[in-house]
Amino acid sequence: MAGTWDELIQQIKEKLDIVDVVSEQVVLKKRGNTYWGLCPFHKDKNPSFCVTPHMGIYKCFSCGEAGDALKFIMKTRNIEFKDLIVELADKFGLEVPKSHNKGGTSSKEEREQMLAATMVAAEFYHDLLIRQKAPNAEIALNYLTKRGIGSDIIKKFHLGIAPKTYTTLYDELRKDFSNDILEKAGLVLKSEKGGYIDRFRNRVIIPIQNENGDYVAFGARALEKDQNPKYLNSSDSLIYNKSRLLYGLYTAKDSIRENDAVVLMEGYFDVISSQAHGIENCVASCGTSLTAEHVKLLSRYTKSRRIYLSFDTDAAGQKATNRGAEIIKEVFKGLGDIKQFDESYVSSDKDKYACEIRVIAPPEGKDPDEFVRSVGADAYKMYMENAPLLIDFQIQSILKDKDKYAAPQEKAQFIKQIIPILAEVENKIIRSGYIDIVAQTLGVDSRAIQSEIRVFERANLPQTERIVKNVTKKSSVLQKAQKNLLSVFLVPDSPFTFTQINEMIGDTQIDDEILINVKSTIDKLIYTVNNVKELIEHLYTEYVDKPDIQAILPELISISEVYRGLSEEDFKNVIRETINKINRCRQIKETEHIKSLYKGISDDDPEALKIQIQLRDKIKKNRQKSEKI
Ligand code: CTP
Ligand code: MN
Repeated sequence: MAGTWDELIQQIKEKLDIVDVVSEQVVLKKRGNTYWGLCPFHKDKNPSFCVTPHMGIYKCFSCGEAGDALKFIMKTRNIEFKDLIVELADKFGLEVPKSHNKGGTSSKEEREQMLAATMVAAEFYHDLLIRQKAPNAEIALNYLTKRGIGSDIIKKFHLGIAPKTYTTLYDELRKDFSNDILEKAGLVLKSEKGGYIDRFRNRVIIPIQNENGDYVAFGARALEKDQNPKYLNSSDSLIYNKSRLLYGLYTAKDSIRENDAVVLMEGYFDVISSQAHGIENCVASCGTSLTAEHVKLLSRYTKSRRIYLSFDTDAAGQKATNRGAEIIKEVFKGLGDIKQFDESYVSSDKDKYACEIRVIAPPEGKDPDEFVRSVGADAYKMYMENAPLLIDFQIQSILKDKDKYAAPQEKAQFIKQIIPILAEVENKIIRSGYIDIVAQTLGVDSRAIQSEIRVFERANLPQTERIVKNVTKKSSVLQKAQKNLLSVFLVPDSPFTFTQINEMIGDTQIDDEILINVKSTIDKLIYTVNNVKELIEHLYTEYVDKPDIQAILPELISISEVYRGLSEEDFKNVIRETINKINRCRQIKETEHIKSLYKGISDDDPEALKIQIQLRDKIKKNRQKSEKI
């Protein structure tokens, strides 16, 4: 029996696992009792987003966003609370009280109808094939047999056939579904003459399941040579988003968990053949290249985030391998090191790496489908066990052409391809190991390679980083001055009251996020506390759940010790000088920034001269201002 709305919310809260919920959007790494990842609510470079499972909450220590599992879903999916509760109640099989169950769920009904229609279509196509009800079923069965696909595999993957005729599926499904639903599910198209025709005709049908096993879309392989395109795919819909779905994942997920590894392939038939031959932890994207969402999806199933790339071994496949690797690295960047060397002989805890990328590229040069059928699944598994790490694969596939380059000039040009790969290795010992390998293989001095890497690194420092480098020194002086200023409030025997100090500080601008926070808390507290001791106590309590801010308090207190015992005059001077220092630093920082903008303007820009003049004026004004201070 349905309980109250509040009871329903409570039941849902109990069923939601915060780690599972967040993992759908954020790659998490366990550290002690908490999980950490890159915050999805702001541009996070280092993991500041923390999930605390035993409390059921998340919190970003950088942007401050925090809440429970329900809030996380609402924020990331931009969905209303009530709609979410109704959706989750449905998912968990809980009853929604009548008072809350009316209206507003039309898109949910539509989804259900589309899912039902797609499932009926999958069954229909499958039935036409295995019972040979379609005129072209025999051709399709012969075609599949030639590809090593017998009836067991046809059944396992629910393969089907779309007849040549125009409305076979439509005629079958229109009895139970509206035109609108069939069109939205991508099963039929509006014909030019009016009316509807089937989207897929004369093709082998590969039904695509989502993570829950629902049929949501189709890939369809041409039966005849001159039929274009070779693969026709469902377009995205309310129930199918190809950048977030991987073919084969539903049948692969247990095996991915067991093996703590996943193999990424290129084509539907690569996955079908491999899974059919006992390599079950493989998936493919559906007629689209790999996306960051795909990678996030996979990382939920493999704890060590061990990803094998097994693409075609031709030039296109090699390109796809490099592109795929870039996307994977991008997703895990900031979460820690990407596994760069084999350490089976070194004892290590398993979760040390953000991810591990390996490449399966048998020298026979076939795609996984052909390889498994012609050479065998056991041989494939052997290649998998010995698959090189991405870096080894990349370096070796460049070095294999080394004999073509003999002259020093040629070698120098050739090595340029390897430099970016080496530059990516952060651990200096591992890096120098690889440098030695390259140096020895090519017969060049390893110091020369090292210096080329430095040149590359300098040239590729992102623009902002270069600016930051210039101003960090200034920033740290500025930050120190700002801390000094706040610590003035914490001097135990100060000759001034809190309000007097506040007046002296006036509207001096503070620009460090944490210090701004502390200052505004002090502003608030000074009206309620009686002395410095109480102020400090209250500050600690205020930041009990903000450890990064709390951590700054001892520093402020120790600075304040320096100002103990000052006369009124000296105390005032300290404050005045500190304020001056802050203002001066800010001017310099601003000038540096303008200068870097100035340098960044291209001379080809027609506006360049105008902008340069404006910037020069600004620099001049700033200089005059800071000289006055
Ligand atoms: N693909 C596509 N549309 C095309 C060609 C390819 O969507 N016109 C997608 C399909 O998902 C296909 C994958 O890219 O499975 C790999 O393409 P390809 O290597 O050409 O496919 P194979 O599986 O090798 O094709 P075949 O059926 O010829 O073995
Ligand atoms: Mn292929």
